[in-house]
Amino acid sequence: SSCRKCPLCQSRQNTVFGAGDQNARVMVIGEAPGEEEDRQGLPFVGRAGLLLNQMLLAANLSRESVYIANILKCRPPGNRNPYSEEVKRCHDYLLRQITLVQPEVMLAVGGVSANNLLQSEEAVGRMRGKVYTYGESGIPLLVTYHPSYLLRKPSEKAKAWQDLQLLMKQLQ
Ligand code: URA
Repeated sequence: SSCRKCPLCQSRQNTVFGAGDQNARVMVIGEAPGEEEDRQGLPFVGRAGLLLNQMLLAANLSRESVYIANILKCRPPGNRNPYSEEVKRCHDYLLRQITLVQPEVMLAVGGVSANNLLQSEEAVGRMRGKVYTYGESGIPLLVTYHPSYLLRKPSEKAKAWQDLQLLMKQLQ
């Protein structure tokens, strides 16, 4: 909360570090806090968060049983995409979270998360449905659509459901 590594510290109300079970089997990684997350200091508590909770429940996972974090810990003004310099300066926090939680599976939600975690520029539609590995960690990483995208495009929910089934399979 005292971080001043990038200019987002000037516009944030709260840092949004992460939430959930520190011994979670699943770590969900989103993009960055939005308006409601910035207000509450908690990840995925706005409209997208409610859908994320439902997605997790569809995979037999409660919100409390997973660990939820974001690529950025502070809200970019107007919810713009993170700048690469911001991602770079924030990276050590996420790395430390992954090291401490040691999840069995990581779930990247949305393109910003997936592209940063996998160092790729592919679209989510081309990354989903596969099991990747996060860096040198050996941790399996799956990609699915961001719940904000699914709110705008509900017809894609069927594909997200397939991704969640793959997540369940990975946990078996
Ligand atoms: N979108 C994200 O990617 N993360 C949040 O915490 C909220 C909305």
